[in-house]
Amino acid sequence: MKAGDEDNRLDPTKEDVDVTSGTTTITWLGHAAVLITSPRGKRILIDPWVETNPATPADAKQIGQLDLVLITHGHGDHLGDAVSILRRTNARAVCIFELGQYLQMKGVSADRIVGMNKGGTVHVDGIDVTMVHATHSGGFVEDGKIIYLGEPAGFVVRLENGLTLYHAGDTAVFADMRLIGEQYHPDLAMLPIGGHYTMDPRGAAAAVRLLGVKRVLPIHYGTFPVLTGTPDQLRAAAADIPDLIVHALKPGGSMSV
Ligand code: NI
Ligand code: MN
Repeated sequence: MKAGDEDNRLDPTKEDVDVTSGTTTITWLGHAAVLITSPRGKRILIDPWVETNPATPADAKQIGQLDLVLITHGHGDHLGDAVSILRRTNARAVCIFELGQYLQMKGVSADRIVGMNKGGTVHVDGIDVTMVHATHSGGFVEDGKIIYLGEPAGFVVRLENGLTLYHAGDTAVFADMRLIGEQYHPDLAMLPIGGHYTMDPRGAAAAVRLLGVKRVLPIHYGTFPVLTGTPDQLRAAAADIPDLIVHALKPGGSMSV
């Protein structure tokens, strides 16, 4: 085989890949960290707290090359290892404007940062990323000072085949989730359920009703003792919602969509 032949066949970015039948793999890396592999093989990491995340299994901490790193807000359990991952990979970061400025101050080159804001959609590597609202806070302590890193956000990610995924970030339930449902019709929602810093299972069940979503991947629970919500509690709180599937992965576990 000549050099280059195999690359041609295996390159998932080639146009002849049938994205309508392509599968998407979603891997929960623990806490809010989720790795999405798109039908064309793009690797998207949301909330890149993996290397120092106690919930991430050891064999999943080195996640290799990435295309996109989406950061919902500046808290350490979400911004996480973004700087070291962006140094180590060629990925581009998508985040709110102020957080992008912070990454630049930390040495990430400006051409690899897509700073945006709520309501906007960016088209990167064939993926549409829309930033949506979250009800939470967004600062960070560094050198004894609290620095402002912009508002917290959620993301709606639309893949090449139209599959639409919503990652809520850290948030309480809010009534405008209904608008997210009406505008983007997510096929699956990644929702925090741990409570204390975010909505709990009862709040997440209300979020499911507002979004009209039928598949949920619970996140942001179990990492610390205060994050007491469980997928079973979400199932109980949402028992009246017909055809709802709650995908309770183990950290490091994957599902195909
Ligand atoms: Ni937070
Ligand atoms: Mn958090």
